[in-house]
Amino acid sequence: MAKIEIDKSQAFYPMPCSLVGAKVDGKPNYLTVSLFSMVNREPPFLAVALNKDRYTNSGIKECRTFSINIPSVSLAEQTDYCGMVSGRSVDKSNLFETFYGKLGTAPMIRECPICFECRLVRTVDLPAKDLFIGEIITAYCDEDCLTDGAPDVMKVNPFLLIDAERKYVSLGQEIGRAWEMGKNLKRIQTNFPSARGS
Ligand SMILES: Cc1cc2nc3c(=O)[nH]c(=O)nc-3n(C[C@H](O)[C@H](O)[C@H](O)COP(=O)(O)O)c2cc1C
Repeated sequence: MAKIEIDKSQAFYPMPCSLVGAKVDGKPNYLTVSLFSMVNREPPFLAVALNKDRYTNSGIKECRTFSINIPSVSLAEQTDYCGMVSGRSVDKSNLFETFYGKLGTAPMIRECPICFECRLVRTVDLPAKDLFIGEIITAYCDEDCLTDGAPDVMKVNPFLLIDAERKYVSLGQEIGRAWEMGKNLKRIQTNFPSARGS
């Protein structure tokens, strides 16, 4: 099969959607963010990449706090809207019920089943983006999204952005267990290093 060169600036893989919250000019502001990831487990660090011209950035820099809220499929319309209008011209704070946690300055969205409040630990100056790295101070989950005390992603029901096709999709079927599916191949490779598996 030929390998065809594709647009290298487009993330082809699906990206989870979040709503990042910050206190800007004294009030909560929320923007849609798909460029975010957990980047350290202990201590827990999350990184979000925001274009330098976002209204939100000044609030994160001033308060040195922000939140990452994971919306369910039922919040897709509000999430898409927050990604199209800027808090510079529109007040987005009344779209959701805001609550504050331990930090006091990281507004979070009560309607989102998962919320992380973060303290800014570092800002990386990328060519077009500010990469904000935050330590998660507290993680919250709606009680009805827990199974045996742990967050249940199927109950959270998050959605993903397929950027290249400008669409959102929900989660699909489980295809196997992580750190399990590869065990047979690991055994074969350990015993017969030149085998390619089947
Ligand atoms: C699905 C989706 C994902 C987005 N992801 C990002 C992102 O990762 N980083 C970013 O800077 N902007 C992203 N945006 C654009 C911002 O959310 C948008 O420009 C927003 O209006 C900025 O709000 P603000 O000016 O109030 O901060 C995304 C928009 C959508 C619809």
